Amino acid sequence: MKIKVLMVCLGNICRSPLAEGILKSKVDPANIFVDSAGTAGYHVGHGPDPRSIEVAKEHHIDISGQRCRKFQEEDFYSFDHIFVMDKENYSNVCALAPSEDHKKKVRLLLERTDSAYREVPDPYYGGQDGFEEVYHLIDKACDMLLQDLNATNDLKNER
Ligand code: 4NP
Repeated sequence: MKIKVLMVCLGNICRSPLAEGILKSKVDPANIFVDSAGTAGYHVGHGPDPRSIEVAKEHHIDISGQRCRKFQEEDFYSFDHIFVMDKENYSNVCALAPSEDHKKKVRLLLERTDSAYREVPDPYYGGQDGFEEVYHLIDKACDMLLQDLNATNDLKNER
């Protein structure tokens, strides 16, 4: 059965579109479905921030076709794993959880990495450097989460 993973940040234009694109680049779409959403609705319907598109492109990933959407309670029913970029996203997502059990699907994306960061920093008000840093944090975290999914046999035939 296909595993469904949702990446969540605040605006769904900087961090989570990168997380969606990076994870998709590492998996077979027959085995895993990846989407992203934001807890705020400021940019619904817009494409990713040009700086995220640029840094992804430098790493040969095209995220330009993604469109921003808002996280909704129904996502708790549709997705197996919900990865949030920071603690504020965690609180906002958990506030919409239909039950305590559903909250168990929500984890900080960097939880299992050995990075000095516990949260993916919001690069929106900074420069391109911040986007490059965010790219690498997310890339490493995606490798870790794929290891975890494989270890729990959730996922097979990862590319
Ligand atoms: P994101 O970054 O949560 O990584 O998409 C942001 C994007 C937009 C805003 C804040 C953060 N904003 O305030 O519009």
